[in-house]
Amino acid sequence: MSHSDDHPQPRTFAAAPPLAGTTGVPGDKSISHRALMLSALAVGESRVEGLLEGEDVLATAAAMRAMGAQIERDDDGTWHVHGVGVGGLLQPRQAIDMGNSGTSTRLLMGLVASHDLTVTFTGDASLSRRPMGRVIDPLTQMGASFTTSPGGTLPLTMRGLCPAVPIDYRLPVASAQVKSAILLAGLNAPGITRVVEPVPTRDHSERMLKGFGAELTVEVEADGTRIITLAGEAELKPQQIVVPGDPSSAAFPMVAALLVPGSRVTIANVGLNATRAGLIDLLREMGGAIEVTNAREVGGEPVGDLVVTASALNGVEPDPARAPAMIDEYPVAFIAAALAQGRSVFRGLEELRVKESDRIATMAAGLRAIGVPVEELEDGLIIEGSGGAPLAGGGPIAARLDHRIAMSFAVAGLVSRDGVTIDDMRPVATSFPGFVALLKRLGAFG
Ligand code: S3P
Repeated sequence: MSHSDDHPQPRTFAAAPPLAGTTGVPGDKSISHRALMLSALAVGESRVEGLLEGEDVLATAAAMRAMGAQIERDDDGTWHVHGVGVGGLLQPRQAIDMGNSGTSTRLLMGLVASHDLTVTFTGDASLSRRPMGRVIDPLTQMGASFTTSPGGTLPLTMRGLCPAVPIDYRLPVASAQVKSAILLAGLNAPGITRVVEPVPTRDHSERMLKGFGAELTVEVEADGTRIITLAGEAELKPQQIVVPGDPSSAAFPMVAALLVPGSRVTIANVGLNATRAGLIDLLREMGGAIEVTNAREVGGEPVGDLVVTASALNGVEPDPARAPAMIDEYPVAFIAAALAQGRSVFRGLEELRVKESDRIATMAAGLRAIGVPVEELEDGLIIEGSGGAPLAGGGPIAARLDHRIAMSFAVAGLVSRDGVTIDDMRPVATSFPGFVALLKRLGAFG
């Protein structure tokens, strides 16, 4: 999908007065993609409330429409999806443009793999650099075939196989996208598909598949390895889904409220699934005052309100084992570390090099540009914190088509002496429409 405006939109974020007030954040991106995909495979009408209406999720909606689902939004923001049934996806008439969205691409490749369809996937410059081999390998074992651009990247064309071959697959990388692609392919394969996950990753697919009536079990071994078993040729029943606020979006106002002196902010209705809540644990370890109130369950997911009070933070050396539970939150965690007292050492993060940008290199360059002493490692960063003193500021920071880089440096600007300029804020629309308006409501612009 192309950005609405063809010109970069630079913006400068300057030192903020104390942030205050209560806000929500848009719906969870991971859950929104899955809600549309599974609803499109159920027979009958599903309803989705709180869907993230960001470009990535809209790319998923367009793709599911192109393959036969009817998807509409009514005026009060509820989405209505009439599915085609498992095995019922139709041949799209043209290439499917996935924009910036790796999750849409990899999960849809799973869906297509077990249908008798030939589908071409394209994407923007960022997505076209990202590795697809990690899903191509297991989906090839299931019978799909692929023609890719050099290095196993987009644009690529795949041909699915029906009936596909159910597989037993041990994940070589900790990736919820790879796990989900295999499970989605397994939905329409005869027999049992098994995914073995040595390091647990976000489990929204498992929860939602069960919610839609698939026969799925999860066994946890003594060492934490998870074995997910799915019975194929499933029949999915339509559901009413309520999507919680995205913890990966809440991360930005949360860190901003911790860093801007005198702030106190409540972020309501945030998803608190343990496979996603690693940043809250990390910030608390650093000394951040984050309280969870009103803990409850919504649509099979734990949810709560976060009350965040500005705090002096200390440097950390987080255990790399926590990476999957906060994989998308490292950029903004690096900003928190830049304001902490002392040194932070982040390691074991090689996956960050293949996100929407190379987040280790992009963050190292941006931090240096705003006066933060930083050392780039192959698998992480070493950051010397300012001990709470404002960052120098500067820029323009190259966001490199990466929404989370742009938002992280916006937060840095709020605690800078000279302001931080981001070269292009358009990518923020992929996951967090209304990000700047939310900062304004909290008082960030005075
Ligand atoms: C996601 C999984 C993660 C994450 C991405 C969303 C998902 O990617 O970074 O933003 O919805 O399954 P990996 O599976 O590549 O770690």
